[in-house]
Amino acid sequence: MSKKYLITSALPYANGALHLGHLAGAYLPADIYVRYLRLRGKDVVWVCGSDEHGAAITIRAKKEGISPQEIIDKYHALNKSTFERLGISFDYYHRTSAQLHHETSQDFFLELFQQGDQFDEKVVEQYYDPKFDQFLADRYIQGTCPRCSYESAFGDQCENCGSDLSPTELINPISTLSGEKPQLKSTKHWYFKLDNHQEWLREWIKTGQLDGQQYHNPSSWKKHVLGQCLSWLDTGLQPRAITRDLSWGIPVPLEEADGKVLYVWFDAPIGYISSTRQWAKENGKDWESYWKGDDTHLVHFIGKDNIVFHCIVFPAMLKAHGGYNLPINVPANQFLNFEGQKFSKSRGWGIEQHVYLEEFESLPNKEDALRYALIRIMPENKDSDFKWDEFVDHHDKELADNLGNLLNRVVVLTNKYFQGVTPDLSIPLSEKHPEIQQLILRMTKEIEQFTFRQAAQTLMEISSAANTYLQDVSPWAIAKKDPDSPIIAECMFLCLQVAGYLSLLVEPFIPFSAPRIRAVLGLPTSKAGDLELALNKLSNGEPLIKGGHQIGKPSVLFPKINDRKDQSRMMLIEQQKAKLAAIEASETKAERPPIKDTITFDDFTKLDLRTGTIMEAEKVKKTDKLLQLTIDLGLETRTVVSGIAKHYKPEETIGQQVVLVANLAPRKLRGIESQGMILMAEDENGKLVFVQPSKSFGNGCFVK
Ligand code: MF3
Ligand code: ZN
Repeated sequence: MSKKYLITSALPYANGALHLGHLAGAYLPADIYVRYLRLRGKDVVWVCGSDEHGAAITIRAKKEGISPQEIIDKYHALNKSTFERLGISFDYYHRTSAQLHHETSQDFFLELFQQGDQFDEKVVEQYYDPKFDQFLADRYIQGTCPRCSYESAFGDQCENCGSDLSPTELINPISTLSGEKPQLKSTKHWYFKLDNHQEWLREWIKTGQLDGQQYHNPSSWKKHVLGQCLSWLDTGLQPRAITRDLSWGIPVPLEEADGKVLYVWFDAPIGYISSTRQWAKENGKDWESYWKGDDTHLVHFIGKDNIVFHCIVFPAMLKAHGGYNLPINVPANQFLNFEGQKFSKSRGWGIEQHVYLEEFESLPNKEDALRYALIRIMPENKDSDFKWDEFVDHHDKELADNLGNLLNRVVVLTNKYFQGVTPDLSIPLSEKHPEIQQLILRMTKEIEQFTFRQAAQTLMEISSAANTYLQDVSPWAIAKKDPDSPIIAECMFLCLQVAGYLSLLVEPFIPFSAPRIRAVLGLPTSKAGDLELALNKLSNGEPLIKGGHQIGKPSVLFPKINDRKDQSRMMLIEQQKAKLAAIEASETKAERPPIKDTITFDDFTKLDLRTGTIMEAEKVKKTDKLLQLTIDLGLETRTVVSGIAKHYKPEETIGQQVVLVANLAPRKLRGIESQGMILMAEDENGKLVFVQPSKSFGNGCFVK
């Protein structure tokens, strides 16, 4: 029996579009891993789907006056197709509203229920919103914090003092649905006794062992994942309610539970199982061998907010049920920020995946440019930041200048010197370029260890090494003196080998460019197992591209975004930046202070405002805000210390006409006497600009 891989990515809620942070968090890393495994010829299935239950969806539906079904249909379709357009190559994208999922979840619940000791039944008092006819999730109750008196604490937590709360502790609770006072009502729920699983969970997470068997190697788990798990375990696990009073969801399959549904976080991870079942059904496969087989690797790709569910709750559910494998790793990512700030739907800060595809419709490599930039900044171990300038640089400096340049030179030169026919040699790459062989092997290890950022870096190092080699040999220089030199043939032969490996290694990262790279090398689009064969050749010293192989014609693989001759692609970037500037501007406007108290005309005439010209300017030492300016006021010159160093470089101010408050009492700033103040206006972005006469003016004129 060969090893099987079962890969999952967090099921996204079907009540909204996904943004770049989601992509970088749980989908792109999994796609790289899965594409790599397929190229290695592994037996792998990757499942995902829409998470279509939960109170958030019903509440949104109520507020918008549409049915939950309409919402999930819309976003299921949108998210599924957007993933496809970005090359996210799930084997199956299911949905939790499907009948098969309902059955799978109900069966799972019943199995635990029938065991007798997995659940507790409890009657509890819960807040209920009579107007919305709905019990309220803790998050939907707000009130005054009993600890710090903050007035907008949530029912589960006070965001002011950080205390964990329960809704009944809140003073003056209100329902955030209706804004009215909720009522307490008693209701019965089923609790999964997670506390009973505490001991083996700790053992399994810390040592990788379970029932005397080594499951995983904890040192291969990310530190931040282990850290979060152990802190949960140290706090002590509590029984968790797994049912809810809601009309939307999977009915609890017990007669006495009429009107109740399974808690969304109970059924959603079971969605991985039902997605696998549906995939198996449609493809004539056996789903159980992937979940229950002896030699199966289960890996969950998620964002850090999902760690506890995937490392603690779901494993406990699987173990309690029995028969299922536990994950071998949960390589959770941290969060991605966007131009220095959190993604925010309400502020419009960030960009959704489908919006990116629309707005960059005309960018030739839009999918791979995005994938590549996100890989290079993937928040693998700490939060990271997406910036448009870096997006451009990763594409232009790495894909275009490094990889694209190598491939182009190899193809052009082979066509030029050998009519596109691979020289008839058989020199092992490992013999002449052991460092490149090492890099290739290192890159495969890096992918296997979920360090995709580094793997992309190594990919660039392979390409750089080949570029350096080509440059060192400079076949074009040799060809001028000795066109038949065997050095040219050897160089082109070896460069073609590296290009051949690159054409396979890039596929998990930039799958849209990979077939185009294969085509310029005269190779067919890669298929499952091709990298495995190639790596075998590498270790046997066999050529990957044989002598006599006819390569293709050159073509521009990565047209630069920042192209001096054609700024049309750069315009797309400028538009994105302008959108962000506009958001910030509108927010600054809103923050502008109100008009100050009225002054009299006499107060105003006390001001002596004069025109002047800045003659000299320098930075005041040891500050980053102040400039020392010398201003010609006509009859006299003044020294003014002005807080504009963040807005103007000293040399930019020289020769500028300004307006000076000329009768302001002098004062010392950093030991320098400042004799007046320059009028500045603050623009929408908080940038200060000089208030200036609209035409050139003599110095010392009155301003009134
Ligand atoms: N819908 C959840 C979220 O977006 C993730 C569910 S993951 C699963 O945070 F395991 F429950 F499927
Ligand atoms: Zn508080």
